[in-house]
Amino acid sequence: MYEIVVKQDIAPKEKLLDVYAPQIAKKSQAGQFVIIQTHDEGERIPLTLADWDTERGTITIVFQEVGKSTALLGAFEEGDSIFSVVGPLGRPSHVEKFGMVVCVGGGVGIAAVHPIARALKEAGNHVISIIGARNKELLIMEEQMRLASTELIVTTDDGSYGFHGFPTQVLKDMLDDKKPIERVIAVGPVPLMRFVGLTTEPYGVKTIVSLNPIMVDGTGMCGGCRVSVGGQTFFACVDGPEFDAHLVDFDGLVKRQRAYLHQERCAMDRYQENE
Ligand code: FAD
Ligand code: NAD
Ligand code: FES
Repeated sequence: MYEIVVKQDIAPKEKLLDVYAPQIAKKSQAGQFVIIQTHDEGERIPLTLADWDTERGTITIVFQEVGKSTALLGAFEEGDSIFSVVGPLGRPSHVEKFGMVVCVGGGVGIAAVHPIARALKEAGNHVISIIGARNKELLIMEEQMRLASTELIVTTDDGSYGFHGFPTQVLKDMLDDKKPIERVIAVGPVPLMRFVGLTTEPYGVKTIVSLNPIMVDGTGMCGGCRVSVGGQTFFACVDGPEFDAHLVDFDGLVKRQRAYLHQERCAMDRYQENE
């Protein structure tokens, strides 16, 4: 059992939990994730490590309540325990001194890009982070991202805070201005990751995205998370989750993500009826 030592409501339907898991905290690296089961018969759901603290023995996860399992997790309070937390899983982000790098985070994906930006900055890169949310109320982890980056640019879709528009518009302006960007890393909803890739491709800038297909075991055994990249099949849980954005079959990813929509809606309806 894994005790929740801190719980914060950080935006509507978005929560941050610090969970006591010293063995996982000790091994965590940027870009990795855990698989959580709220209860013994619960679904296994992957969540990215937003942070960890080896001294306190905690890991930080940030999640959006989108269905039954994340609603169950959101109902936990400080002092409650999660049935199972497995990790760290997935290949860590490739971190080295590239020069100037841009980290793009969209929505709850901002939490996932946070350790990546920090690790790249610690490796001596000039890290420009662009974080986007639909509106000011939904913007998360601004201060943490400011610390993790050399420069921070905030965008909102409705213009309620920061630049009015998508992160991709800011990124395109930088590329047009011939900023010497060596690498771009994007985490967030699939449309963001797809359009970041489409934005950088004509400029030939290497672009990495963190894919979020449905996962079950997280250890390369079930095949649930298979994705097509450059015409080859990979298992995102063990071969990724990070891949070259210019090679990802995003249409295939979206199709597989929606494979169980009906069952997911039924599970949520039943959960809400019984609450
Ligand atoms: P459901 O109603 O069951 O599903 C809603 C949607 O979530 C589905 O349509 C599907 O696209 C997706 N989903 C459902 N089950 C799974 C599953 N087992 N694995 C993956 N996706 C699923 N979300 C966050 O809010 N914060 C994170 O840090 C985060 N990190 C992720 C890291 C990885 C590597 C992956 C693959 C996904 C990540 N997600 C994250 C997405 C998160 O796992 C899903 O939102 C969650 O599983 C939804 O479960 P649910 O029962 O609440 O919703
Ligand atoms: P959202 O729909 O609110 O979008 C967040 C932001 O992304 C927008 O405000 C905008 O800035 C940008 N964006 C969206 N569509 C865009 C487009 N077409 N072009 C350019 N920019 C665009 O996102 P949300 O509701 O917070 O959802 C976050 C998503 O991130 C979820 O789907 C979740 O599964 C995913 N996620 C993935 C990982 C991972 O490891 N890959 C980790 C955490 C979250
Ligand atoms: Fe089963 Fe990746 S989640 S193979």
